[in-house]
Amino acid sequence: MSVSTRRAPQAGEPSAGPIPPALLPVAPVEPGSDPEARLGLRFPDGFSWGAATSAYQVEGAAAVDGRGPSVWDTFARTTGRTANGDTGDIAADHYARYAEDLGLIQDLGLRSYRFSISWPRVQPDGRGAINQRGLDFYRRLVDGLLERGISPMATLFHWDTPQTLQDGGGWASRDTAYRFADYASAVFDALGESVPVWLTVNEPKTVVQNGYIIGHHAPGIRDEPVAYLVAHHLALAHGLGVQALRATGSASRIGGALNLHPCYAADDNPLTLDAVRLYDGYENRLYLDPMFKGHYPQDVLDHQGPASPLLQGIKDGDLEIISQPTDILAVQYYTPIYVTTDGGTVQKHPTTEAAWQQVYPPGMYDILTRVTRDYAPASLTVTENGLPCPDEIGVDGSVDDAARVSFLRDHLAEAHRAIGDGVPLESYHVWSLMDNFEWEAGYDQRWGLIYVDYPTQRRIFKRSANWYRSVISDNSL
Ligand code: FCB
Repeated sequence: MSVSTRRAPQAGEPSAGPIPPALLPVAPVEPGSDPEARLGLRFPDGFSWGAATSAYQVEGAAAVDGRGPSVWDTFARTTGRTANGDTGDIAADHYARYAEDLGLIQDLGLRSYRFSISWPRVQPDGRGAINQRGLDFYRRLVDGLLERGISPMATLFHWDTPQTLQDGGGWASRDTAYRFADYASAVFDALGESVPVWLTVNEPKTVVQNGYIIGHHAPGIRDEPVAYLVAHHLALAHGLGVQALRATGSASRIGGALNLHPCYAADDNPLTLDAVRLYDGYENRLYLDPMFKGHYPQDVLDHQGPASPLLQGIKDGDLEIISQPTDILAVQYYTPIYVTTDGGTVQKHPTTEAAWQQVYPPGMYDILTRVTRDYAPASLTVTENGLPCPDEIGVDGSVDDAARVSFLRDHLAEAHRAIGDGVPLESYHVWSLMDNFEWEAGYDQRWGLIYVDYPTQRRIFKRSANWYRSVISDNSL
């Protein structure tokens, strides 16, 4: 199976190392069109508007207050792995500046803020002793949100596996799923019900594809059979995390966070449909089916074969743990995939600065309605959607990211259409609240509503932030 993930290398691109500049021009804003023109689409009362970040991408403070190293510290510090050798050592310095950032979140009018908890900050070795100073940081952050009437949404794992666990086998080892459950329990004990919505594992597919097949994410491994065993252990971790929350008797809600890609046929050859089906198996059903149906998709298992580490790794009772009921499914939508007869992919829409991303807003509608139809989640949230723009500070000190305004508006219009057609979507989060460390692309890509001037750490609301604030206050597009 050739994987063409959200960050898959394009033809001629080396399969590891920094990604090249966009291959196609950034999606243009049509000349003369006003990206802020109102569409008159009102969202349901109580719809929760948000933005998202993750720990390694914004916090910095890599060696402060007892934080242990993660696989991303190791990976980013390895020569040639990230653009310009960038690391998350300082990032947006959010660990030190969280109070200022809380003020910005409030100014923006967000109702929900999605962040992640750094496992090695809370449990530096990934097992054993808990680092109270790490937990205290998240306590301050959560309390600061609650005081401002903003709902915290916390992800337990956004890719920063403690390095010590990686040294013992990482996610290829079943034990890591149980270590995750212990860590999750410690976090639940400390933050209790102050966090109304918990997310377990962020985008397991990206860890599988980018971390273990293509190798251009931490831990930088290229071993496709093992990658699918990693998928199983991440699914198990999800299930064990859900169990751990239930064991505390908490009334908080919990679910997984999946990046889903609608897969379409690139041509009208009838044979292409088989290729699309298998592609969809690897992109979507491999993660959705075990969570919601208690089994892996048969076509993917057949394709993997009976001796595959995935099949060998499934133990009695695992799928019951993985498929126990959740309260919410978090969907992250960035791009569609067009599959060719031979199982390859082509691009059909303009891309952004991220060469893997095609701009196709109806994909938002398609993926939301599809998961609702096929999996009937109790509730849905969009936890990531956005694009990188070549944002620059203008002479007047402002940042005019018109392309982001039209991107968000068009995707939100599709989310609105999905709600109208019965999708139980309760909230939406822009990726990202602010510019940050974009993994292998380092600081070259700016995904934020808020501009971060890294040398001074000054924050500036971009045009999109001001626009989003008015959308939130009107509850309508
Ligand atoms: C998602 C990741 C997030 C960020 C965006 C652009 O896949 O979850 O951390 O990198 O892509």
